[in-house]
Amino acid sequence: MRAELLAAIPEFDLITDVDLRERTIRTWELAMQEGGWTLEDLARMPFTLLINPCPVNFIEHTRAVAQIAIEVARVFAHLYGDRVPVDMDILISGGILRDVGKLVEYEEREVGVFVQTEAGKLLRHPFTGMELAARCGLPAAVQHIIATHASEGDKVQRTTEATIVNHADFISFHAVQRLAEGKLLVSSFSAESR
Ligand SMILES: [Fe+2]
Repeated sequence: MRAELLAAIPEFDLITDVDLRERTIRTWELAMQEGGWTLEDLARMPFTLLINPCPVNFIEHTRAVAQIAIEVARVFAHLYGDRVPVDMDILISGGILRDVGKLVEYEEREVGVFVQTEAGKLLRHPFTGMELAARCGLPAAVQHIIATHASEGDKVQRTTEATIVNHADFISFHAVQRLAEGKLLVSSFSAESR
């Protein structure tokens, strides 16, 4: 399972600190275990329930956000240097984990039908994701990214890493949402196409 996870999300391996990488992977594994998901399930799961049908799955969106965040940090390093420091390990860990709480927020009620659980309505994934990360001993800087990546964090003074992840997430979300609103979607992995 560990090898399959790292193959599905190779961005885990970009975390250079061995302990942080291990805790990041363990948080993901714990979330999959608690939600009862397989990797195949996550490749079918829409990354959001707010766009239906959603042409991007949970794994793809996770990877896209992590990669967008990394690219932003590279631009900062290139143009701003040490004046705007970014902790790449914290950024990548938070970029991968910011939505991990969805694995306990969502359930597949019937094949291809993904819904929010009753508990998920009360505690959305910024809360449950932070709790999972805390249980796995991730540092406050990563918990902060998870807790503040969505609108729940709009009144919080975000760190540079959390700011980058917040925007990276919405770059992907808004681009896909716009396609859906314009009904320009050409394919879907949702129940219709199964
Ligand atoms: Fe999110």
